[in-house]
Amino acid sequence: MTRESWQTRIGFILAAVGSAVGLGNLWRFPWMTSDNGGAAFLLVYLGVVLLVGVPGLLAEFVIGRRSRRNPVGALSDLSESSAWSAFGHVFVVTAVILLSFYSVVGGWILRYFAGSFTGAYFAAPGAYFESINYGVEAVGFHLLFLGVTALIVLRGVRRGIERATKLMMPAIVVLLLALAAWGVTLDGASEGVAFYLAPDIAFLQANFLNILPAAAGQALFTLSLGAGTMLTYASYLGEDRSLAADGTAIAVLNTFVGVLAGVVVFPILFALGVGAGGGGPGALFVSLASAFAALPYGQVVGVVFFGVVVLAALSSSISMLEIPVSFLVDEYGLSRRAAVGGLTGVFAVTGAVCALDQGVFGFVAGTLVDLLLTGGLVGFMLFAGWVLGADAVTELQGGSGPLARSLATPWLYAVGVFIPVFLIFTFVSGLADAAGVAVGPLSLLGVTLGPTRILLVVTAVVAVVSFLGLRRSRSVL
Ligand code: PFF
Repeated sequence: MTRESWQTRIGFILAAVGSAVGLGNLWRFPWMTSDNGGAAFLLVYLGVVLLVGVPGLLAEFVIGRRSRRNPVGALSDLSESSAWSAFGHVFVVTAVILLSFYSVVGGWILRYFAGSFTGAYFAAPGAYFESINYGVEAVGFHLLFLGVTALIVLRGVRRGIERATKLMMPAIVVLLLALAAWGVTLDGASEGVAFYLAPDIAFLQANFLNILPAAAGQALFTLSLGAGTMLTYASYLGEDRSLAADGTAIAVLNTFVGVLAGVVVFPILFALGVGAGGGGPGALFVSLASAFAALPYGQVVGVVFFGVVVLAALSSSISMLEIPVSFLVDEYGLSRRAAVGGLTGVFAVTGAVCALDQGVFGFVAGTLVDLLLTGGLVGFMLFAGWVLGADAVTELQGGSGPLARSLATPWLYAVGVFIPVFLIFTFVSGLADAAGVAVGPLSLLGVTLGPTRILLVVTAVVAVVSFLGLRRSRSVL
Protein backbone atom coordinates (compact mmCIF):
# COMPACT_ATOMS: atom_id res chain seq x y z
CA MET A 1 0.00 0.00 0.00
CA THR A 2 1.46 3.40 -0.85
CA ARG A 3 1.53 5.91 1.94
CA GLU A 4 -0.92 8.75 1.72
CA SER A 5 0.57 12.15 1.00
CA TRP A 6 -0.66 15.72 1.21
CA GLN A 7 -2.75 16.71 -1.78
CA THR A 8 -1.37 20.22 -1.93
CA ARG A 9 1.49 22.21 -0.40
CA ILE A 10 -0.99 24.58 1.14
CA GLY A 11 -2.79 21.57 2.62
CA PHE A 12 0.38 20.58 4.49
CA ILE A 13 1.13 24.13 5.63
CA LEU A 14 -2.42 24.68 6.82
CA ALA A 15 -2.42 21.41 8.71
CA ALA A 16 0.96 22.13 10.33
CA VAL A 17 -0.11 25.68 11.20
CA GLY A 18 -3.35 24.19 12.47
CA SER A 19 -1.35 21.96 14.80
CA ALA A 20 0.82 24.84 15.96
CA VAL A 21 -1.99 27.33 16.47
CA GLY A 22 -4.13 26.27 19.39
CA LEU A 23 -4.63 26.66 23.11
CA GLY A 24 -0.89 27.35 23.32
CA ASN A 25 -1.38 30.64 21.47
CA LEU A 26 -4.78 31.62 22.77
CA TRP A 27 -4.87 30.33 26.36
CA ARG A 28 -1.27 29.67 27.47
CA PHE A 29 0.52 32.53 25.67
CA PRO A 30 -1.50 35.44 27.14
CA TRP A 31 -1.29 33.77 30.55
CA MET A 32 2.51 33.39 30.34
CA THR A 33 2.88 36.92 28.98
CA SER A 34 0.87 38.44 31.81
CA ASP A 35 2.79 36.44 34.44
CA ASN A 36 6.21 37.35 33.05
CA GLY A 37 6.11 41.09 32.55
CA GLY A 38 4.24 41.57 29.27
CA ALA A 39 6.41 43.00 26.51
CA ALA A 40 9.67 41.77 28.10
CA PHE A 41 8.38 38.21 27.80
CA LEU A 42 7.19 38.82 24.24
CA LEU A 43 10.67 39.94 23.23
CA VAL A 44 12.47 36.90 24.67
CA TYR A 45 9.79 34.59 23.30
CA LEU A 46 10.20 35.98 19.77
CA GLY A 47 13.96 35.49 20.02
CA VAL A 48 13.54 31.86 21.09
CA VAL A 49 11.03 31.14 18.31
CA LEU A 50 13.51 32.42 15.74
CA LEU A 51 16.72 30.90 17.11
CA VAL A 52 15.41 27.62 18.57
CA GLY A 53 11.94 27.11 17.12
CA VAL A 54 12.69 27.36 13.41
CA PRO A 55 15.86 25.19 13.48
CA GLY A 56 14.06 22.70 15.74
CA LEU A 57 11.10 22.52 13.38
CA LEU A 58 13.50 21.77 10.54
CA ALA A 59 15.10 18.95 12.55
CA GLU A 60 11.70 17.27 12.93
CA PHE A 61 10.88 17.86 9.25
CA VAL A 62 14.18 16.37 8.08
CA ILE A 63 13.76 13.21 10.17
CA GLY A 64 10.10 12.86 9.15
CA ARG A 65 10.56 13.24 5.42
CA ARG A 66 13.74 11.15 5.36
CA SER A 67 12.07 8.21 7.10
CA ARG A 68 8.44 8.52 5.93
CA ARG A 69 7.55 6.98 9.27
CA ASN A 70 6.05 7.79 12.65
CA PRO A 71 8.55 8.92 15.34
CA VAL A 72 9.27 5.39 16.64
CA GLY A 73 9.74 3.88 13.19
CA ALA A 74 11.77 6.91 12.08
CA LEU A 75 14.32 6.77 14.87
CA SER A 76 14.75 3.00 14.71
CA ASP A 77 14.88 2.76 10.88
CA LEU A 78 17.34 5.58 10.39
CA SER A 79 19.67 4.63 13.24
CA GLU A 80 19.22 0.85 13.30
CA SER A 81 19.79 1.16 17.02
CA SER A 82 17.53 -0.29 19.67
CA ALA A 83 18.37 2.55 22.07
CA TRP A 84 17.00 5.17 19.66
CA SER A 85 14.01 2.97 18.97
CA ALA A 86 13.30 2.79 22.71
CA PHE A 87 13.69 6.57 22.93
CA GLY A 88 11.12 6.87 20.12
CA HIS A 89 8.47 5.38 22.37
CA VAL A 90 8.77 8.42 24.61
CA PHE A 91 6.93 10.39 21.92
CA VAL A 92 3.95 8.11 22.01
CA VAL A 93 3.82 8.64 25.77
CA THR A 94 4.23 12.40 25.27
CA ALA A 95 1.30 12.47 22.86
CA VAL A 96 -0.87 10.57 25.32
CA ILE A 97 0.03 12.97 28.12
CA LEU A 98 -0.47 16.07 25.96
CA LEU A 99 -3.89 15.08 24.74
CA SER A 100 -5.00 14.05 28.22
CA PHE A 101 -4.79 17.57 29.65
CA TYR A 102 -5.44 19.35 26.34
CA SER A 103 -8.77 17.62 25.98
CA VAL A 104 -9.78 18.86 29.42
CA VAL A 105 -9.02 22.47 28.47
CA GLY A 106 -10.79 21.82 25.15
CA GLY A 107 -13.78 20.78 27.25
CA TRP A 108 -13.65 24.04 29.23
CA ILE A 109 -13.60 25.96 25.96
CA LEU A 110 -16.66 24.04 24.68
CA ARG A 111 -18.39 24.84 27.95
CA TYR A 112 -17.63 28.56 27.63
CA PHE A 113 -18.66 28.53 23.99
CA ALA A 114 -22.05 27.05 24.90
CA GLY A 115 -22.31 29.33 27.96
CA SER A 116 -21.73 32.44 25.83
CA PHE A 117 -25.07 31.97 24.07
CA THR A 118 -26.95 32.32 27.34
CA GLY A 119 -24.45 34.47 29.22
CA ALA A 120 -24.13 31.70 31.83
CA TYR A 121 -20.78 32.95 33.19
CA PHE A 122 -21.68 36.65 33.19
CA ALA A 123 -22.97 37.04 36.74
CA ALA A 124 -19.95 35.67 38.62
CA PRO A 125 -17.03 34.89 36.29
CA GLY A 126 -14.60 33.77 39.00
CA ALA A 127 -17.06 31.50 40.76
CA TYR A 128 -18.26 30.12 37.42
CA PHE A 129 -14.77 28.94 36.48
CA GLU A 130 -14.31 27.38 39.91
CA SER A 131 -17.60 25.52 39.49
CA ILE A 132 -16.83 24.01 36.09
CA ASN A 133 -13.05 23.45 36.02
CA TYR A 134 -12.69 20.06 37.74
CA GLY A 135 -15.26 17.39 38.45
CA VAL A 136 -17.78 15.11 36.78
CA GLU A 137 -19.11 17.74 34.38
CA ALA A 138 -15.58 18.61 33.31
CA VAL A 139 -15.15 14.91 32.46
CA GLY A 140 -18.29 15.09 30.31
CA PHE A 141 -17.03 18.07 28.30
CA HIS A 142 -13.60 16.48 27.97
CA LEU A 143 -15.27 13.38 26.45
CA LEU A 144 -17.21 15.56 24.03
CA PHE A 145 -14.05 17.34 22.86
CA LEU A 146 -12.21 14.01 22.58
CA GLY A 147 -15.06 12.50 20.55
CA VAL A 148 -14.98 15.28 17.98
CA THR A 149 -11.18 14.97 17.73
CA ALA A 150 -11.44 11.21 17.16
CA LEU A 151 -14.08 11.64 14.45
CA ILE A 152 -11.88 14.01 12.46
CA VAL A 153 -8.82 11.76 12.74
CA LEU A 154 -10.88 8.71 11.76
CA ARG A 155 -11.54 10.23 8.36
CA GLY A 156 -7.84 9.94 7.44
CA VAL A 157 -5.01 12.31 6.65
CA ARG A 158 -6.27 13.69 3.41
CA ARG A 159 -9.99 13.92 3.72
CA GLY A 160 -10.17 14.56 7.45
CA ILE A 161 -7.32 16.75 8.56
CA GLU A 162 -6.59 18.59 5.35
CA ARG A 163 -10.19 19.55 4.74
CA ALA A 164 -10.88 20.49 8.34
CA THR A 165 -7.85 22.76 8.72
CA LYS A 166 -8.39 24.40 5.35
CA LEU A 167 -11.61 25.79 6.75
CA MET A 168 -10.41 26.45 10.28
CA MET A 169 -7.28 28.51 9.73
CA PRO A 170 -8.60 31.38 7.60
CA ALA A 171 -11.65 31.57 9.89
CA ILE A 172 -9.44 31.92 12.95
CA VAL A 173 -7.33 34.70 11.44
CA VAL A 174 -10.35 36.70 10.23
CA LEU A 175 -12.16 36.42 13.56
CA LEU A 176 -9.09 37.38 15.59
CA LEU A 177 -8.42 40.38 13.34
CA ALA A 178 -12.00 41.57 13.79
CA LEU A 179 -11.82 41.18 17.57
CA ALA A 180 -8.42 42.95 17.70
CA ALA A 181 -9.62 45.84 15.55
CA TRP A 182 -12.60 46.28 17.86
CA GLY A 183 -10.61 45.82 21.09
CA VAL A 184 -7.97 48.50 20.44
CA THR A 185 -10.65 51.17 19.95
CA LEU A 186 -11.96 50.73 23.52
CA ASP A 187 -11.37 53.46 26.10
CA GLY A 188 -8.27 52.65 28.11
CA ALA A 189 -7.08 50.01 25.63
CA SER A 190 -3.81 51.87 25.02
CA GLU A 191 -2.54 50.89 28.49
CA GLY A 192 -2.95 47.26 27.50
CA VAL A 193 -1.15 47.89 24.22
CA ALA A 194 1.75 49.49 26.11
CA PHE A 195 1.95 46.61 28.62
CA TYR A 196 2.07 44.16 25.76
CA LEU A 197 4.24 45.95 23.21
CA ALA A 198 6.56 48.41 25.03
CA PRO A 199 9.29 46.37 26.76
CA ASP A 200 10.67 47.47 30.12
CA ILE A 201 14.40 46.82 29.60
CA ALA A 202 15.31 47.18 33.29
CA PHE A 203 12.72 44.54 34.17
CA LEU A 204 14.03 42.30 31.42
CA GLN A 205 17.62 42.54 32.68
CA ALA A 206 16.63 41.85 36.26
CA ASN A 207 14.43 38.86 35.42
CA PHE A 208 16.07 37.37 32.36
CA LEU A 209 16.85 33.99 33.90
CA ASN A 210 13.27 33.56 35.08
CA ILE A 211 11.72 34.67 31.81
CA LEU A 212 13.94 32.46 29.64
CA PRO A 213 12.67 29.00 30.70
CA ALA A 214 9.05 30.14 30.49
CA ALA A 215 9.65 31.64 27.04
CA ALA A 216 11.47 28.52 25.81
CA GLY A 217 8.77 26.15 27.10
CA GLN A 218 6.10 28.29 25.53
CA ALA A 219 7.95 28.43 22.19
CA LEU A 220 8.19 24.62 21.99
CA PHE A 221 4.60 24.07 23.04
CA THR A 222 3.17 26.63 20.65
CA LEU A 223 5.14 25.29 17.68
CA SER A 224 4.15 21.69 18.54
CA LEU A 225 7.81 20.78 18.92
CA GLY A 226 9.33 17.89 20.83
CA ALA A 227 6.35 15.56 20.57
CA GLY A 228 6.90 14.18 17.07
CA THR A 229 3.84 15.89 15.62
CA MET A 230 5.75 17.90 13.07
CA LEU A 231 7.91 14.86 12.27
CA THR A 232 4.77 12.83 11.60
CA TYR A 233 3.18 15.51 9.42
CA ALA A 234 6.39 15.91 7.38
CA SER A 235 6.50 12.16 6.82
CA TYR A 236 3.57 12.64 4.44
CA LEU A 237 5.46 15.31 2.48
CA GLY A 238 6.81 14.96 -1.08
CA GLU A 239 10.52 15.26 -2.01
CA ASP A 240 10.06 18.40 -4.05
CA ARG A 241 8.99 20.65 -1.17
CA SER A 242 11.37 23.12 0.42
CA LEU A 243 11.41 22.22 4.11
CA ALA A 244 13.07 25.52 5.01
CA ALA A 245 10.47 27.62 3.17
CA ASP A 246 7.56 25.63 4.60
CA GLY A 247 9.05 25.67 8.12
CA THR A 248 9.58 29.42 8.02
CA ALA A 249 6.06 30.02 6.71
CA ILE A 250 4.60 27.87 9.50
CA ALA A 251 6.61 29.60 12.24
CA VAL A 252 5.68 33.06 10.92
CA LEU A 253 1.98 32.25 10.66
CA ASN A 254 1.90 30.67 14.11
CA THR A 255 3.73 33.59 15.69
CA PHE A 256 1.40 36.00 13.91
CA VAL A 257 -1.66 34.32 15.42
CA GLY A 258 -0.11 34.21 18.91
CA VAL A 259 0.90 37.87 18.81
CA LEU A 260 -2.54 38.73 17.43
CA ALA A 261 -4.18 36.84 20.30
CA GLY A 262 -2.27 39.12 22.67
CA VAL A 263 -3.51 42.17 20.77
CA VAL A 264 -7.03 40.87 21.34
CA VAL A 265 -6.62 39.97 25.01
CA PHE A 266 -4.57 42.78 26.63
CA PRO A 267 -6.37 45.90 25.36
CA ILE A 268 -9.72 44.37 26.37
CA LEU A 269 -8.44 43.44 29.82
CA PHE A 270 -6.96 46.86 30.51
CA ALA A 271 -9.95 48.72 29.04
CA LEU A 272 -12.13 46.95 31.59
CA GLY A 273 -9.78 47.62 34.47
CA VAL A 274 -9.06 43.90 34.92
CA GLY A 275 -5.35 44.45 34.19
CA ALA A 276 -2.88 41.69 33.45
CA GLY A 277 -4.66 39.47 35.96
CA GLY A 278 -3.39 36.74 38.27
CA GLY A 279 -1.81 33.45 37.23
CA GLY A 280 -3.16 29.94 37.03
CA PRO A 281 -4.95 27.99 34.33
CA GLY A 282 -8.13 30.00 34.88
CA ALA A 283 -6.54 33.38 34.16
CA LEU A 284 -7.77 33.73 30.59
CA PHE A 285 -11.22 32.37 31.33
CA VAL A 286 -11.91 34.44 34.41
CA SER A 287 -10.57 37.70 33.03
CA LEU A 288 -12.11 37.41 29.56
CA ALA A 289 -15.42 36.29 30.98
CA SER A 290 -15.43 39.39 33.18
CA ALA A 291 -14.63 41.42 30.10
CA PHE A 292 -17.42 39.93 28.00
CA ALA A 293 -19.89 40.27 30.85
CA ALA A 294 -19.22 44.00 31.05
CA LEU A 295 -19.28 44.67 27.32
CA PRO A 296 -22.21 45.71 25.16
CA TYR A 297 -23.10 42.72 22.98
CA GLY A 298 -20.89 40.65 25.29
CA GLN A 299 -22.73 37.45 24.41
CA VAL A 300 -21.95 37.89 20.71
CA VAL A 301 -18.30 38.71 21.44
CA GLY A 302 -18.10 35.66 23.70
CA VAL A 303 -19.62 33.32 21.12
CA VAL A 304 -17.22 34.57 18.45
CA PHE A 305 -14.14 34.43 20.66
CA PHE A 306 -14.72 30.99 22.17
CA GLY A 307 -15.85 29.72 18.75
CA VAL A 308 -12.42 30.66 17.41
CA VAL A 309 -10.69 28.96 20.30
CA VAL A 310 -12.67 25.72 19.78
CA LEU A 311 -11.59 25.57 16.13
CA ALA A 312 -7.97 26.26 16.97
CA ALA A 313 -7.96 23.69 19.78
CA LEU A 314 -9.40 21.00 17.50
CA SER A 315 -6.84 21.50 14.75
CA SER A 316 -4.12 20.96 17.42
CA SER A 317 -5.73 18.03 19.19
CA ILE A 318 -6.13 16.11 15.94
CA SER A 319 -2.37 16.43 15.42
CA MET A 320 -1.72 14.97 18.88
CA LEU A 321 -3.97 11.97 18.23
CA GLU A 322 -2.36 11.43 14.82
CA ILE A 323 1.01 10.54 16.45
CA PRO A 324 -0.05 7.38 18.33
CA VAL A 325 -2.52 6.47 15.55
CA SER A 326 0.16 6.48 12.86
CA PHE A 327 2.42 4.55 15.23
CA LEU A 328 -0.14 1.76 15.70
CA VAL A 329 -1.07 1.69 12.00
CA ASP A 330 2.56 1.63 10.77
CA GLU A 331 4.19 -0.55 13.43
CA TYR A 332 1.42 -2.97 14.34
CA GLY A 333 -0.63 -3.02 11.15
CA LEU A 334 -3.81 -1.99 12.97
CA SER A 335 -6.64 -0.53 10.94
CA ARG A 336 -7.11 3.19 11.39
CA ARG A 337 -10.51 2.59 12.88
CA ALA A 338 -9.19 0.15 15.50
CA ALA A 339 -6.27 2.45 16.37
CA VAL A 340 -8.47 5.52 16.81
CA GLY A 341 -11.08 3.55 18.77
CA GLY A 342 -8.59 1.94 21.14
CA LEU A 343 -6.67 5.13 21.77
CA THR A 344 -9.81 7.16 22.35
CA GLY A 345 -10.67 4.69 25.10
CA VAL A 346 -7.28 5.28 26.73
CA PHE A 347 -7.55 9.08 26.46
CA ALA A 348 -11.05 8.99 27.87
CA VAL A 349 -9.59 7.57 31.08
CA THR A 350 -6.32 9.53 31.29
CA GLY A 351 -8.13 12.79 30.49
CA ALA A 352 -10.78 12.02 33.11
CA VAL A 353 -8.04 11.72 35.74
CA CYS A 354 -6.82 15.23 34.80
CA ALA A 355 -10.39 16.56 34.77
CA LEU A 356 -11.06 15.26 38.27
CA ASP A 357 -7.93 16.36 40.08
CA GLN A 358 -6.53 19.87 40.05
CA GLY A 359 -3.15 18.72 41.36
CA VAL A 360 -2.70 16.13 38.61
CA PHE A 361 -3.83 18.64 35.99
CA GLY A 362 -1.38 21.30 37.14
CA PHE A 363 1.55 18.90 37.19
CA VAL A 364 0.75 17.34 33.81
CA ALA A 365 -0.01 20.62 31.97
CA GLY A 366 3.00 22.40 33.46
CA THR A 367 6.18 20.69 34.60
CA LEU A 368 5.65 17.32 32.92
CA VAL A 369 4.88 18.79 29.51
CA ASP A 370 7.86 21.18 29.66
CA LEU A 371 10.13 18.31 30.62
CA LEU A 372 8.91 15.95 27.91
CA LEU A 373 8.90 18.52 25.10
CA THR A 374 12.34 19.89 25.95
CA GLY A 375 13.79 16.39 26.29
CA GLY A 376 12.05 15.29 23.10
CA LEU A 377 13.29 18.18 20.99
CA VAL A 378 16.84 17.82 22.32
CA GLY A 379 16.63 14.14 21.27
CA PHE A 380 15.45 14.99 17.74
CA MET A 381 18.14 17.62 17.31
CA LEU A 382 20.94 15.37 18.51
CA PHE A 383 19.59 12.66 16.21
CA ALA A 384 19.70 15.01 13.22
CA GLY A 385 23.19 16.23 14.12
CA TRP A 386 24.93 13.05 15.17
CA VAL A 387 23.05 10.15 13.58
CA LEU A 388 21.94 11.63 10.26
CA GLY A 389 24.80 14.14 10.03
CA ALA A 390 25.60 14.80 6.37
CA ASP A 391 22.36 13.05 5.33
CA ALA A 392 20.38 15.65 7.30
CA VAL A 393 22.10 18.39 5.32
CA THR A 394 21.24 16.65 2.05
CA GLU A 395 17.63 16.16 3.12
CA LEU A 396 17.27 19.80 4.12
CA GLN A 397 18.77 20.93 0.85
CA GLY A 398 16.43 18.77 -1.26
CA GLY A 399 13.78 21.00 -2.84
CA SER A 400 15.29 24.14 -1.24
CA GLY A 401 16.43 27.41 -2.76
CA PRO A 402 20.02 28.78 -2.70
CA LEU A 403 19.71 30.56 0.67
CA ALA A 404 18.49 27.48 2.54
CA ARG A 405 21.10 25.33 0.78
CA SER A 406 23.94 27.54 1.99
CA LEU A 407 22.56 27.65 5.54
CA ALA A 408 22.14 23.88 5.82
CA THR A 409 25.57 23.10 7.28
CA PRO A 410 25.51 25.93 9.88
CA TRP A 411 22.01 24.68 10.75
CA LEU A 412 23.41 21.20 11.45
CA TYR A 413 25.95 22.60 13.92
CA ALA A 414 23.20 24.62 15.55
CA VAL A 415 20.88 21.64 16.07
CA GLY A 416 23.72 19.20 16.77
CA VAL A 417 25.44 21.33 19.41
CA PHE A 418 24.43 24.85 20.32
CA ILE A 419 20.66 24.65 20.62
CA PRO A 420 20.60 21.41 22.66
CA VAL A 421 23.17 22.89 25.02
CA PHE A 422 21.10 26.07 25.28
CA LEU A 423 17.89 24.13 25.94
CA ILE A 424 19.49 22.02 28.63
CA PHE A 425 20.91 25.19 30.19
CA THR A 426 17.51 26.84 30.12
CA PHE A 427 15.85 23.81 31.54
CA VAL A 428 18.32 23.36 34.39
CA SER A 429 18.07 27.03 35.34
CA GLY A 430 14.26 26.72 35.24
CA LEU A 431 14.37 23.66 37.48
CA ALA A 432 16.79 25.33 39.87
CA ASP A 433 14.52 28.34 40.04
CA ALA A 434 11.41 26.19 40.60
CA ALA A 435 13.19 24.25 43.33
CA GLY A 436 14.43 27.48 44.93
CA VAL A 437 18.10 26.55 44.48
CA ALA A 438 20.35 29.55 43.87
CA VAL A 439 23.23 29.12 41.41
CA GLY A 440 26.40 30.99 42.48
CA PRO A 441 27.86 33.49 42.99
CA LEU A 442 31.15 31.68 42.50
CA SER A 443 34.71 32.96 42.72
CA LEU A 444 36.99 31.61 40.03
CA LEU A 445 40.60 32.74 39.63
CA GLY A 446 39.78 35.88 41.56
CA VAL A 447 36.76 36.74 39.37
CA THR A 448 33.30 36.59 40.93
CA LEU A 449 30.65 35.12 38.65
CA GLY A 450 26.90 35.59 39.16
CA PRO A 451 24.36 32.92 38.14
CA THR A 452 23.92 34.16 34.57
CA ARG A 453 27.67 34.26 33.93
CA ILE A 454 28.28 30.84 35.50
CA LEU A 455 25.64 29.29 33.30
CA LEU A 456 26.92 31.12 30.24
CA VAL A 457 30.50 29.99 30.83
CA VAL A 458 29.43 26.35 31.32
CA THR A 459 27.26 26.56 28.21
CA ALA A 460 30.06 28.02 26.12
CA VAL A 461 32.56 25.35 27.23
CA VAL A 462 30.18 22.45 26.55
CA ALA A 463 29.18 23.94 23.19
CA VAL A 464 32.78 24.35 22.01
CA VAL A 465 33.74 20.82 23.08
CA SER A 466 30.72 19.29 21.32
CA PHE A 467 31.26 21.44 18.25
CA LEU A 468 34.77 20.06 17.92
CA GLY A 469 33.34 16.57 18.44
CA LEU A 470 30.80 17.01 15.66
CA ARG A 471 33.46 18.28 13.28
CA ARG A 472 35.55 15.20 13.92
CA SER A 473 32.64 12.80 13.73
CA ARG A 474 32.68 10.82 10.52
CA SER A 475 29.01 11.59 9.91
CA VAL A 476 29.79 15.17 8.94
CA LEU A 477 32.54 15.75 6.43
N1 PFF B 1 0.93 23.81 19.46
C1 PFF B 1 -0.30 23.47 20.11
C2 PFF B 1 -0.90 24.72 20.71
O1 PFF B 1 -0.27 25.77 20.67
O2 PFF B 1 -1.99 24.66 21.23
C3 PFF B 1 -0.12 22.42 21.16
C4 PFF B 1 0.61 21.20 20.70
C5 PFF B 1 0.10 20.42 19.65
C6 PFF B 1 1.78 20.85 21.31
C7 PFF B 1 0.77 19.27 19.25
C8 PFF B 1 2.48 19.72 20.92
C9 PFF B 1 1.95 18.94 19.88
F1 PFF B 1 2.59 17.89 19.52
